[in-house]
Amino acid sequence: MSFTISDLRQQPAFFDAVADRIWRAWRKERGFPADYIAGRLRENMTPSPIPFALVAHRDETFIGTASVIAADLEERPQYSPWVGAVWVDPKYRMQEIGSALVERAVEAVFALHFRRVYLCAERERRRFYARQGWVPIEEDVGERKLTVFVKNAGS
Ligand SMILES: CC(C)(COP(=O)(O)OP(=O)(O)OC[C@H]1O[C@@H](n2cnc3c(N)ncnc32)[C@H](O)[C@@H]1OP(=O)(O)O)[C@@H](O)C(=O)NCCC(=O)NCCS
Repeated sequence: MSFTISDLRQQPAFFDAVADRIWRAWRKERGFPADYIAGRLRENMTPSPIPFALVAHRDETFIGTASVIAADLEERPQYSPWVGAVWVDPKYRMQEIGSALVERAVEAVFALHFRRVYLCAERERRRFYARQGWVPIEEDVGERKLTVFVKNAGS
């Protein structure tokens, strides 16, 4: 399926869809109000290089998103930046859109001259990221027992 990946700053019409998916996927059940994510996501709309969000879309239709943020796991403040909030709407999954979003986020980080980028994920996502060349460096971090992955520029 053909799709485009854009920086959300260039496609602000998708702002509400991105905020909605992030809230539903990771914040709603933890009791955060719906407008919490909108507030955080507004930081991605400023000209500073990080944070930023990517959106996968086909014309006006939202398909998926991924973000690059300075800090993700509060237990690991020494690592930065991170790829996070990777989401593809269920009906578009299994078509390599998720991996394309992650790859584009990584390319953008390395274009900003960072030499490393991090990501944390639950155990069941291990194969998804390992297949894309992410290397697990820590297991069972924090309450959610996440795996921390790294990707090095030029590897
Ligand atoms: C994780 C997620 C982003 C993946 O999105 P996606 O667009 O389905 O990703 P891809 O298509 O690139 O890869 C997904 C799987 O489909 C498989 N796949 C892709 N194209 C395929 C095809 N044509 N035929 C068969 N399998 C295929 C991939 O091998 C991959 O398998 P794996 O996970 O076992 O490695 C999506 O499932 C999602 O939004 N999940 C909920 C949120 C989430 O868990 N995010 C990650 C947080 S760390």
